[in-house]
Amino acid sequence: MSVGFIGAGQLAHALVKGFTAAGVIATHRITASSPDKDLPTVTGLRKMGAYFTTSNKETVNKSDVLFLAVKPHIIPFVLDEIGPDIEDRHLIVSCAAGVTISSIEKKLLQYRPAPKVIRCMTNTPVVVREGATVYATGTHAEVEDGKLLEQLMASVGYCTEVEEDLIDAVTGLSGSGPAYAFLAVDALADGGVKMGLPRRLAVRLGAQALLGAAKMLLESEQHPGELKDNVASPGGATIHALHVMESGGFRSLLINAVEASCIRTRELQYLADQEKISPAAIKKTTLDKVLQQPGVTTTGVGVRTGLNLFNSNPKHKKN
Ligand SMILES: NC(=O)c1ccc[n+]([C@@H]2O[C@H](COP(=O)([O-])OP(=O)(O)OC[C@H]3O[C@@H](n4cnc5c(N)ncnc54)[C@H](OP(=O)(O)O)[C@@H]3O)[C@@H](O)[C@H]2O)c1
Repeated sequence: MSVGFIGAGQLAHALVKGFTAAGVIATHRITASSPDKDLPTVTGLRKMGAYFTTSNKETVNKSDVLFLAVKPHIIPFVLDEIGPDIEDRHLIVSCAAGVTISSIEKKLLQYRPAPKVIRCMTNTPVVVREGATVYATGTHAEVEDGKLLEQLMASVGYCTEVEEDLIDAVTGLSGSGPAYAFLAVDALADGGVKMGLPRRLAVRLGAQALLGAAKMLLESEQHPGELKDNVASPGGATIHALHVMESGGFRSLLINAVEASCIRTRELQYLADQEKISPAAIKKTTLDKVLQQPGVTTTGVGVRTGLNLFNSNPKHKKN
């Protein structure tokens, strides 16, 4: 079996690192593509021994399991590009937030009678093999296809099958969840620093407290509320702190955060359906289709379009 990634960003990098650490697939059987050769994630993939190409078609040709790891609004363009190259052996696994199985199947059915599609939602802790993944199988994917994906994803954390209509909520909870945890540790460390701890130690202790609490919860049969009660002794320091958190609306804030991420995820399918793309996101690999549309011209290395482009924030470069 060989594995390919269309898109060589944060998620692809995290998955390849996790798969490699798990020993579930040899890196020389992994191919990844993205238009930009100079991304830090591309350098990382190459260092790990994965094959990198700027051609999505080459990734398709070299792979059996094909992860779609591009931003949701890029998905329709990528599907139009790779659709003619999809064969019976290919299992298409979309990691894109909000993008539905039916929208992917609809695109691919233009090229093949029964494309095998799986939609999954994972998160970046796959890099340390502590990911949280759910997946739903498409109309033409077989039970064995689901099992194959489960084998891969379970090697880098928790993985379970769900009904597709739950996946947006999962995105709001565990897909975005690591960001909530990083914010929490950062804020906890600020508290420690305010009270005199050196920053490094404060961050370490905050992270360890979250890690330990999560492990205790996963290894016990107890409700999180019960575990919380166990550490709040009458009249003690912790119950005073918990009161402060409740007064600040801590629970509501987290509930609202999960809801906001879920609602935004649902909007992403709508954006993908528009098949409009910001100039910054137009890349060589999808340019052909974009260039065929009226009012689009290239100028040097950049691209100007007369299309009704949707607004996207300037790209936030990571790493
Ligand atoms: N990161 C997470 O925590 C996470 C969790 C769950 C699901 N996801 C999903 O995973 C997907 C990828 O997220 P990410 O965080 O890895 O994003 P990312 O870091 O921005 O990576 C996306 C990659 O796709 C590349 N790309 C852009 N246009 C392309 C094209 N036409 N063909 C091939 N590659 C292209 C990008 O290159 P450029 O940088 O040059 O544009 C970049 O390498 C998203 O759909 C997201 O919803 C992410």
